[in-house]
Amino acid sequence: MDLIELKDINFEYEKGEPVLTDFSLTIEEGSCVVIRGDNGSGKSTLFRILNGLSFGGSGEYLFKGTKIDAEYLKDNSGAKRFHKAIGYLFQNPDTMLFNSSVYDEIAFGPRQMGLTDEEVDERVIDCLKLFDIESLKDKVPYHLSGGQKKMVAFAAVIALDPEVLVLDEPFAGLDQKKIDWLLGFLKELKAAGKTLIIATHRDDVNEGLADKTIELKIPASE
Ligand SMILES: Nc1ncnc2c1ncn2[C@@H]1O[C@H](COP(=O)(O)OP(=O)(O)OP(=O)(O)O)[C@@H](O)[C@H]1O
Ligand SMILES: [Mg+2]
Repeated sequence: MDLIELKDINFEYEKGEPVLTDFSLTIEEGSCVVIRGDNGSGKSTLFRILNGLSFGGSGEYLFKGTKIDAEYLKDNSGAKRFHKAIGYLFQNPDTMLFNSSVYDEIAFGPRQMGLTDEEVDERVIDCLKLFDIESLKDKVPYHLSGGQKKMVAFAAVIALDPEVLVLDEPFAGLDQKKIDWLLGFLKELKAAGKTLIIATHRDDVNEGLADKTIELKIPASE
């Protein structure tokens, strides 16, 4: 069964200005799909839909065969299951960071999951090490550099150990060392069975990572 199925999605923010038109996409469990397209072609919009933050005006979104719509996400247990399964790295990490320390930022999700303090601490330490950001542990996320913010936001997503990772421009703003590390890390995630959906313009993700590449187009104006 496909993990994700979008069928004939139509989406517009402003009436008469379509962003996605009859857009369909299927994503198999454990695969990696790369989303490309010009600025403004709807990559981030698509990601908001995949995360249940926006809904198409028409069309259908199935996640593991279950229809995801506003009604479904109103149900607490359904919404919880859905949001636990998908980890979303926003294009702009400022949208995600709101805690007063990097430690608390990464601990936030695991605490919400009801883990013990000891288990939370273990996860946070593991993530700090994994992302090589131990030295930032007590810093205020808001004051970090752009690349540092991205690493902290990503670590906070990974701390939740989601099945599906929706990553909006994860490489943007990173130095070459971090880019190389991230390419290797994404391959490890895939090898571990995670489903990856990545918006990026980089060609090197096609080597040994992408199973499918989708190019979004800006609809021609009438
Ligand atoms: N909240 C919003 N309200 C109105 N229009 C919006 C909103 N968000 C995005 N848009 C418009 O929708 C279109 C698609 O935007 P989106 O952010 O999805 O593109 P993108 O492919 O992610 O671009 P980029 O490569 O710059 O990140 C653009 O024309 C944008 O101006
Ligand atoms: Mg975008």
